Amino acid sequence: MYTQAMDQPNSPQDGLRSVPGASDSRQTEFDARMDSDRKIEPQDWMPEAYRKTLVRQISQHAHSEIIGMQPEGNWISRAPSLKRKAILLAKVQDEGGHGLYLYSAAETLGVSRDALLDALHAGKAKYSSIFNYPTLTWADVGVIGWLVHGAAIMNQVPICRCSYGPYARAMIRICKEESFHQRQGYESLMTQMKGTPAQREMVQDAVDRWYWPVLAMFGPPDADSPNSAQGMRWGIKRISNDELRQKFVDATVPQAAILGVTLPDPDLKWNEARGHHDYGAIDWDDFWAVVNGNGPCNKERLATRVKAHEDGQWVRDAALAYARKQQARALREAA
Ligand code: 3HC
Repeated sequence: MYTQAMDQPNSPQDGLRSVPGASDSRQTEFDARMDSDRKIEPQDWMPEAYRKTLVRQISQHAHSEIIGMQPEGNWISRAPSLKRKAILLAKVQDEGGHGLYLYSAAETLGVSRDALLDALHAGKAKYSSIFNYPTLTWADVGVIGWLVHGAAIMNQVPICRCSYGPYARAMIRICKEESFHQRQGYESLMTQMKGTPAQREMVQDAVDRWYWPVLAMFGPPDADSPNSAQGMRWGIKRISNDELRQKFVDATVPQAAILGVTLPDPDLKWNEARGHHDYGAIDWDDFWAVVNGNGPCNKERLATRVKAHEDGQWVRDAALAYARKQQARALREAA
């Protein structure tokens, strides 16, 4: 539903790969590798700024997946049937898996997972704004599947073509799973919309609360996005925040019509000349308040995450003790 062709042309800015000032032969090889759309791998030389940008983006992405387990996780015990509970359990577990692939991809850049988690737990690392909103009703779980995961797919399919090999490869599997997440959310909402008037109202209410934060989730407008230009030159980012947002709006309008819900934007209308939907103004003050730690659930999300990490200390200790025993046994046997 959201697939963007993997052979889509690269950004018109391609070719402007170099870091200003860098001129040695390693830079030339790096530029040549990207110009011919070959991947950069962990053992390859890379400009320090490229490495840092990847660590920033991949770790923020990993944190988003892990924190993103919470809004839906708190509905597992309240899912309305065994089938819905099993689906939700699998989905939340997938998010945990996505986080782990992404921390592994970040580690290939020479940063430790402990350092990344410390930054998250200290409130210094960013994660997606969208996970700081509450899930008030069962319909929210369906709307997260439909809209939040739909937006995630829109943003993440182009990252399957990212210039850094480990990130691009991790994204292929993640996107396949995200696609299932999106469809299960839409199917759950379809079922609710065939139910009672109260159920239909509950779905509409959830759409009203999530729609605008989902549009903001694509990131600031291109003109206010400090990382976009360089990210696109380096082939990390392939499609801009605004372009992805527009694609998402265009894809969502017909889906909302089939579902029978109204998108809460009085300015939403088809623009024949542009071949796209026009949409209303996003509240960027609200977005930045959430990104900066002042959303409705930021403190709760972080506290839950820190507690889960602390509660899991015995598992890490046990795994390390087992690894030490295995190593000692291997040494004894080799002696
Ligand atoms: N929430 C929190 N911070 C955000 C944000 C959001 N929705 N959108 C942008 N920002 C931050 C950026 O991280 C950046 O912060 P920094 O400079 O301090 O690191 C700042 O706002 C400026 O934004 P830019 O547009 O300049 O930043 P980028 O070029 O990195 O673009 C991005 C932001 C589009 C989110 C890009 O980093 C990206 O595509 N990341 C990979 C995908 C990702 O992380 N998605 C998060 C959701 S994961 C998810 O949805 C899980 C699924 O299971 C539902």
